[in-house]
Amino acid sequence: MKKKILSGMRPTGKLHLGHLVGALKNWSKLQDEYDCLFMVADWHALMSEYKNPANLKEYCLDNVIDWISCGINPEKSTLFVQSHVPEHLEMYMSLSCITPLGLLERCPTYKEQLRELKTREVNNYAFLGYPVLQAADILLYKAEVVPVGEDQLPHLELTREISNRFNTIFKQDVFPEPQAMLTQFPRLLGLDGRKMSKSYDNYIGLSDQPDIIYAKVKTMITDPRRIKKTDPGHPEVCNVYSYYQVFTDPRICSIVETQCEKGEIGCIDCKKRLGDVLVEFLEPIQEKRKALVSDHKTILKILEIGRAKAATIAGATMKQVRQAVGL
Ligand code: TRP
Ligand code: SF4
Repeated sequence: MKKKILSGMRPTGKLHLGHLVGALKNWSKLQDEYDCLFMVADWHALMSEYKNPANLKEYCLDNVIDWISCGINPEKSTLFVQSHVPEHLEMYMSLSCITPLGLLERCPTYKEQLRELKTREVNNYAFLGYPVLQAADILLYKAEVVPVGEDQLPHLELTREISNRFNTIFKQDVFPEPQAMLTQFPRLLGLDGRKMSKSYDNYIGLSDQPDIIYAKVKTMITDPRRIKKTDPGHPEVCNVYSYYQVFTDPRICSIVETQCEKGEIGCIDCKKRLGDVLVEFLEPIQEKRKALVSDHKTILKILEIGRAKAATIAGATMKQVRQAVGL
């Protein structure tokens, strides 16, 4: 039997290359080897976006369209929306009872968000329980493997802790200890060298058109020691070069590397070429996307099939959980 995977993404906006490299590429590779569930975490998004929920539903569909365009196959994997399966909240409450407050207050992601997101109101009750809902997502399906980015490791640690507490307190062996699986792909930084993020406005969107892509690449910071075109460059410190490494084959990379080191190519031309690479890379994805955008019916059908599959597993687990907790 295949091992079970669950992962999720918050629908807070349109997806960008960071999502593709950090998650989707990995998800699509795992589909054959594992039994995969991929979830749109709309309750998690609502915790921080509740004052601006106007686009939430649209982002749910739009993100799923991007998932499929990037190779997530609804025939192989189960795609669903968290809020379509109400058992998530039932599970969340069951786990809330056994989660010590201190574990949540000490959670590094919680402390960081409180510090960083002063502009958005995350100082709410739900937000403290963010990792408990995530644990509920994972345990509801008894997922054994959870592909996530490094930033999510504290949540996986908490999930294991909650899983063990549940089994111990209720003297049952209901839940496995889910393992985090980190992406093997190199991290892709944003245009300005910080983490690629919508809130930093330093991203290239999966649906950005060629003119936008070229314009955005133009703003990227290169090797600061290169002033004249003939100055020898250091591709290993250049963000533009790191994009080549992610989006094109080693042959082209080594040409760029040599030309840069020998001062044979200027950064302007090098960026133009990177623009070509990205436009070509995104073309088939955008082609697929175009077809799906005009076919919402198909997406809704995929999500309904996903909901039904997820609900079957979730219902069975909740039956066990209710029994274990004594309700
Ligand atoms: N917290 C995750 C993130 O921001 C999203 C998420 C919600 C998730 N539930 C999950 C990821 C369950 C993995 C498993 O990236
Ligand atoms: Fe970076 Fe290319 Fe300029 Fe070299 S030539 S510093 S790789 S942009």
